[in-house]
Amino acid sequence: MADHLEMTKTTPKDFIYATLGGLFAPGLAIFLIVMLFLGIQGGMGQPDAAPLSDKAVRARIQPFGQSLAMDPNAPKVERTGEQVYNEVCSGCHASGALGSPKFKEAADWAKRNGQGYEVLLTHALKGFNKMPARGGDPDLSDLEVARGVVYMTNAAGARFEAYLKKEPEPSAADLARGKAVYAENCAGCHDTGVTGAQKLTDAKAWAPLIKEGKEYLYNAAINGSFGGPAKGGNEKLSDGDTRVAVDYMVAEARAAIEAAARQPVKQAAKPATQQAGK
Ligand code: HEC
Ligand code: HEC
Repeated sequence: MADHLEMTKTTPKDFIYATLGGLFAPGLAIFLIVMLFLGIQGGMGQPDAAPLSDKAVRARIQPFGQSLAMDPNAPKVERTGEQVYNEVCSGCHASGALGSPKFKEAADWAKRNGQGYEVLLTHALKGFNKMPARGGDPDLSDLEVARGVVYMTNAAGARFEAYLKKEPEPSAADLARGKAVYAENCAGCHDTGVTGAQKLTDAKAWAPLIKEGKEYLYNAAINGSFGGPAKGGNEKLSDGDTRVAVDYMVAEARAAIEAAARQPVKQAAKPATQQAGK
């Protein structure tokens, strides 16, 4: 009986351990929760800081609204010279910041324009003294930079057209090959204009396309464009054959444009060259 009592009797020592344990367990849990929370907060502070300052910088260089290119989910659309200027170049060139030639200030641009389009384009693409490469926006494509250059220089009296490389004229052999490829793969749509394809003889449709430059057209023909199938839907067609087909189409379209320009007065067809900068 005495043994039995011994076993169940709570000594003061037991009592203290039990009490301390009871107090500590929740205390420890609370302590850990607090530490965890502080840890999360501390961690959150850091990744936040970078985008914020980046945003602030962007906001300062780009006072005219958001760039489409900043949304990673937005499809890449080649912007016009005016858009490129407003979104990127105006950050400095609107005010002449950092000693940049000011927009529409013919005196600022005269000598620079005298260097010729290609030098200006190279400087805009690669950077030049305090002029950052691509105006500081690496998302701009070469063509967008070229359009930005043309937009600014033409606003100050130049008459440049946006292109990236001087386009070599296709040889007679290329054109002959292109004609054959075209007849076989492209005429089905582009002779008739079916499905919205630009008819080869449609001067109005081709004038702005030709302005975009051959690289653009090659790319559209090889990879497909709005409604235009890649390689005319013939996946066996080589890139080279697709290119010469485009060469042929452009040659034909140019002829159509020239013919339209030679039409008597009432047509008043503007020479295509007046739309530079678009
Ligand atoms: C951060 C400021 C800044 C931005 C943004 C900027 N530029 Fe400039 N740009 C300059 C400065 C400064 C110069 C003058 C450089 C010099 O002559 O030393 C300049 C000069 C130029 C020139 C003349 C180069 C020459 O050879 O004389 C061109 C062309 C040009 N910028 C195009 C652009 C285009 C296109 C954009 C937009 C895509 C752009 N810039 C955005 C600062 C800027
Ligand atoms: C099934 C019909 C079809 C065939 C075949 C076709 N195209 Fe097209 N193509 C289109 C349509 C539609 C468009 C117009 C898209 C638009 O609205 O801009 C187009 C546009 C183009 C453009 C202009 C790019 C642009 O941005 O609009 C080029 C260049 C072109 N096609 C080249 C070719 C070549 C080269 C071939 C043959 C290898 C070919 N196409 C065959 C339907 C066709």
